[in-house]
Amino acid sequence: MRDGSGRPAEAGLEGVDLFDPRFHGEGDPHAVWARMREHAPLHRQTLPDGRAFWSVTRHADACRVLGEHRTFTSERGSLLMQLGTPDAASGRMLVATDPPRHTALRRPLNRLFAGPALHAAEDRVRRAVRSVLAPAAREGRWDLARRAGLLPMAVAGALMDLPEEDGERLLHWTGMAAAPEDPDFRVASAGATLAVAHHRLFAYFTDLVARRRGTEGEDAVRLLLSMRTDEGPLSDEEAVVNCYSMLLGANATTPHAVAGTVLALMEHPEQYAAVREDRSLVPGLVEEGLRWTSPASSFLRYAVVDAELSGGVVPAGDAVAVWVGSANRDERVFADPYRFDVRRTDNRHLAFGFGPHYCLGAAVSRLTLRIFFEEALDAVEEFRPAGRPRHLVSNFVAGLAELPVRTRPRRD
Ligand code: HEM
Repeated sequence: MRDGSGRPAEAGLEGVDLFDPRFHGEGDPHAVWARMREHAPLHRQTLPDGRAFWSVTRHADACRVLGEHRTFTSERGSLLMQLGTPDAASGRMLVATDPPRHTALRRPLNRLFAGPALHAAEDRVRRAVRSVLAPAAREGRWDLARRAGLLPMAVAGALMDLPEEDGERLLHWTGMAAAPEDPDFRVASAGATLAVAHHRLFAYFTDLVARRRGTEGEDAVRLLLSMRTDEGPLSDEEAVVNCYSMLLGANATTPHAVAGTVLALMEHPEQYAAVREDRSLVPGLVEEGLRWTSPASSFLRYAVVDAELSGGVVPAGDAVAVWVGSANRDERVFADPYRFDVRRTDNRHLAFGFGPHYCLGAAVSRLTLRIFFEEALDAVEEFRPAGRPRHLVSNFVAGLAELPVRTRPRRD
């Protein structure tokens, strides 16, 4: 279908506001994304204040935008909610730095987030999972989304050696930074919420970094402080912004992968039964849960040169949002994409991104999710819905703020 200009018509897409966090909290982005993939794979939206961005929704375009850093830079910011505002940590924080400096910053950190350090974190993860699942030991109603919120602090906390007693406030501040419009976090306005969150987190890590500089240890904070790039050691400020980014990356996403996957299992009880029968399906459940939930919903890049994508050309200088959840339902890549299937093979989901910025915490998240479902299968005979789930109000994180469940404990 074409309109008078020769461009594909944006069937039923007039008035769609992908920028509005409430659309993601209340609407059905999947129905809209499906129409965009089909009719407007490159879609432009202008906000009332004149700022504009393009959206890509197909898997192949998502891979290009996230993967080709020479064409699409991360250095002008990677969050849609900060559209048009230069990133103050550009060139210093991993996620806002392009190769080759990004490669130099990232290489030493890869070691910490994989291999032996990860095995060392396993016990703390298992303890955290058991504590999250504690209400499942008795019949009754509880909020799985709220409890899952406790998980990532335990994991990132272990890797960064953060005091357990700081967990609650760090969790709240990272929630404010990731979803400043959500009623659980918003103070006055979204801008004010972001400013408070950034101030508190940067003050916290500035203090921590000052105390750790020159001390011995294997944690991610000390590793950052011991790192050298071609330009010399990292400054305290560089260490602080990367601590912030790691904690935000962990806290903002992992609980939503857990809660969203449990919701999918309640909607598809035969899939839970299948995994209970055959534990070798747990890794498949984890990957399908990641594809299905896609908790990191959007990432932003800016075109450095005119760039051709499906459906048209993005002019140099323009912002492009990649909708990860849409790419992960692209019928061009996934057979029957709206079927939740723990036996899915060739699951090339982009939940952890693609290319140089592929999630630093992917291995630790997979470990957390695997342990969560192993423990859940041991403890819970059945998860049942016990009220309406509430979606997070955010254009960055797709997730559940509340998921009331009833669980029947396993007696064997
Ligand atoms: C289910 C859980 C998670 C999901 C879905 C997720 C998703 C993502 C995605 C999509 C990116 C790419 C960003 C971009 O291209 O601009 C990313 C990057 C990143 N993630 Fe995660 N993440 C998760 C957990 C974690 C955890 C547990 C940590 C830390 C322990 C973490 C730390 C980071 C960092 C530091 C980056 C930036 C990497 C870079 O720029 O090189 N993430 N994550």
